[in-house]
Amino acid sequence: MSTDVDRAWWKEASVYQVYPRSFNDSDGDGLGDLQGIRNRADYFDELGVDVVWLCPVYDSPNADMGYDIRDYRSIMDEMGTMADWEGLLDDVHDRDMKLVMDLVVNHTSDEHAWFVESRDPDGGKDDWYIWRDGGPDEPPNNWISLFGGPAWTYDERREAWYLHLFDEKQPDLNWENPDIREAIYDMMTFWLEKGIDGFRMDAISCISKPHGLPDADTGEDWFDMDLYFNGPRIHEFMQEMAAETYENYDVMLIGETPGTDPEEAKQYYEDGVDVVVYFDHMDVTYGPGGKWSPDYVGMETLASAGDEELDEMLNTMDLADLQEAIRHWDEGVGDEWNCLYMGSHDQTRAVSRFGDDHEYHRESATLVATFLLTQRATPFLYQGDEIGMTNTDWDRDDIRDVEARGQVDILTDEHDVPYETIAPFVRNRSRDNARTPMQWDDSENAGFTDGDPWIQVNDDYDRINVERAMADPDSIFHYYRRLLDHRSESDVLVYGDTAYVLPDDEYPNVWAHRRTLGEDSVLVVLNWQAEKRDVAGIDGVDSPVLFGNYDGQTTDETTLRPYEARVYDLG
Ligand code: NOJ
Repeated sequence: MSTDVDRAWWKEASVYQVYPRSFNDSDGDGLGDLQGIRNRADYFDELGVDVVWLCPVYDSPNADMGYDIRDYRSIMDEMGTMADWEGLLDDVHDRDMKLVMDLVVNHTSDEHAWFVESRDPDGGKDDWYIWRDGGPDEPPNNWISLFGGPAWTYDERREAWYLHLFDEKQPDLNWENPDIREAIYDMMTFWLEKGIDGFRMDAISCISKPHGLPDADTGEDWFDMDLYFNGPRIHEFMQEMAAETYENYDVMLIGETPGTDPEEAKQYYEDGVDVVVYFDHMDVTYGPGGKWSPDYVGMETLASAGDEELDEMLNTMDLADLQEAIRHWDEGVGDEWNCLYMGSHDQTRAVSRFGDDHEYHRESATLVATFLLTQRATPFLYQGDEIGMTNTDWDRDDIRDVEARGQVDILTDEHDVPYETIAPFVRNRSRDNARTPMQWDDSENAGFTDGDPWIQVNDDYDRINVERAMADPDSIFHYYRRLLDHRSESDVLVYGDTAYVLPDDEYPNVWAHRRTLGEDSVLVVLNWQAEKRDVAGIDGVDSPVLFGNYDGQTTDETTLRPYEARVYDLG
């Protein structure tokens, strides 16, 4: 074992993301809650993860499912009480795991007391948010919200406009005001003192706004949002935050930093952030028009495409692009550290997006697991991906995601596209796909709730569920468990340097990378397709197989089967 590495517990850890609304409901109201998570605490242990990241459970009217916080210091009624939360913290700690909380401080809910006071001309908090005077017909600048639609809303009460980079129920805080910063630091200390093990900082690259809020550049079919990210005072705020809050605690700081490249990320690392969350590897599946553009494939083509064609149109991925994204970040941050995720509450299901959720469901989900868990980055698993949960179809009325709803409205109202044509987009883009209830067993509502679930249950739960996965030693779940276990014992998998071997033209749709630490070296080869592929020419495939997702793999057999993943021990 080499000791010549810069060790940290959060580099060696694996993180499991819990979306509480959809994890487990203990009281039959159709919504997941803290007691429900506590009832399943052993599950984290059985899977073998080290950190649980809890999406927001704070008091919220849920315009954006908890990312619109009404009170930072109390728990949402539907989720339970502070005592339940403290119980969960103990449950996690008792199992030698850690708990990371979401920190949403770019914006609050419009129902937060600060905003209510800020709207009131005599409330005493007039500049706690970003307000601009002006007539009701003329927004202060041309910004659009990251969820679609204008980024300004006119408030009749104050007779002024307020900025919201997200939904209109999520007004942006004015970080220029030292009072607001102090109030946030106090709140962060409140949670740190409760004993949490870290923060996942939501949209943190948005907190500093450009001076004078200038118009963004636009063209006929594009809008440059760069102005929203990494504003002029961002690193000053981040450094102040570190000094005032977490600097003296042994915690993991995860920065969600949209609009950031590795060079900029290095600044965040200097500020005290441990890992930044990037999106480039997610964007590689969108094609040229981005996530929701009606120009992407042309709605007419979409309307006439068959199932398979649709899948290809909406789930494009070139391994070379994927490699470029991963490599850009791995090499770009140098000695610093990254995290990596293949799914989250903001993305679609990993197996549907990066694999084949029909014929090669198990094989491709375990291939994706192998990809995730063999990189030099702290792996983040998203609930349900460890059993291969999939995307599903959505009737318009069943859509819950504020982003998807907004985009569907724009496509139908402004572009005149019928919903049936957009429905495949929703299946392949909407965040709701990741938010369908966790599938525990094949009983009604997948064992998630005895009541009416707040969001539809994916109807494949009779096949894809935890109970079934745990009973089958060859399941996706057990594959994750074994590989997580393996990673936690393997310095080369955690700390080894990466050499990117494939893709290249000689081996279409095959991925390969090598990890090396001192004398230790492993080769990861992934046959990312439904066809077999001979990989005899790749250096190292005659070495012993350490790990793989097919039974009975032998080293003298160099033809990889559909979605076969192998990790070779190069010595
Ligand atoms: C990023 C969060 O992950 C997402 O769910 C949320 O909608 C936005 N930030 C706004 O808070």
